[in-house]
Amino acid sequence: MSRREAAKAAKGGRITVNGDAVRSADIRISEETDTVAIDGAAVEWRRFVYIMLSKPEGYISATDDPREKTVLELISERDRKIGLFPCGRLDKDSTGLMLLTNDGALAHRLLSPKYHCEKRYIVNIAKPIEDEGIISRLESGVDIGGEITRPAKFTPMTPTRFEVTLREGRYHQIKRMFESVGNKVVTLRRVSFAGIELDPRLKSGEWRYLTDDEISALRAASEGGAAGAGEE
Ligand code: URA
Repeated sequence: MSRREAAKAAKGGRITVNGDAVRSADIRISEETDTVAIDGAAVEWRRFVYIMLSKPEGYISATDDPREKTVLELISERDRKIGLFPCGRLDKDSTGLMLLTNDGALAHRLLSPKYHCEKRYIVNIAKPIEDEGIISRLESGVDIGGEITRPAKFTPMTPTRFEVTLREGRYHQIKRMFESVGNKVVTLRRVSFAGIELDPRLKSGEWRYLTDDEISALRAASEGGAAGAGEE
């Protein structure tokens, strides 16, 4: 609730701290040791918030922008206020799984090139690829304008539809990889990030909090990556 709503609820005697009603929301408590309840139900306090968004086309991966619509605009105002930011980028015309959090340390680890966190995409392309040689070039590394990409996985679903798994995230990477073999990305959807799968029940533009299991998996992915950091 907003500060104003909290003040009103306290005034109405709906809030207790350690069982005693408090009439003012303006008191000091310890999040760790005090028990706050509203209408008799204990309030669970969490330092960090982790959200899975099904990103629609037309939104940029930023917190605010003077001209463009940002992914943060799709999140409730209450959650926006706690310093949420997108964990990684998707292009404006890309869709699918976008994680948002206010856990800067975890996001930093997941996005660090040292951690090689895995991302999976479903990509539609303009021209069919049937030549195994092109697929193996894409998989072993192509020149995307002076940079050579790391090993990746390109699994054809049809000749114009690929499942692509990357362990790095350079600017417009998949688009530039297909361009390097004379092709063009038509649509790009991220379906997995660091072991978290996009929930198929989420419609475009919808979001939900990660479950405890998903948060643990994310932490494990970031810590697992640390073990492999020496491979650089
Ligand atoms: N690669 C791209 O080219 N675009 C994205 O949004 C993600 C990966």
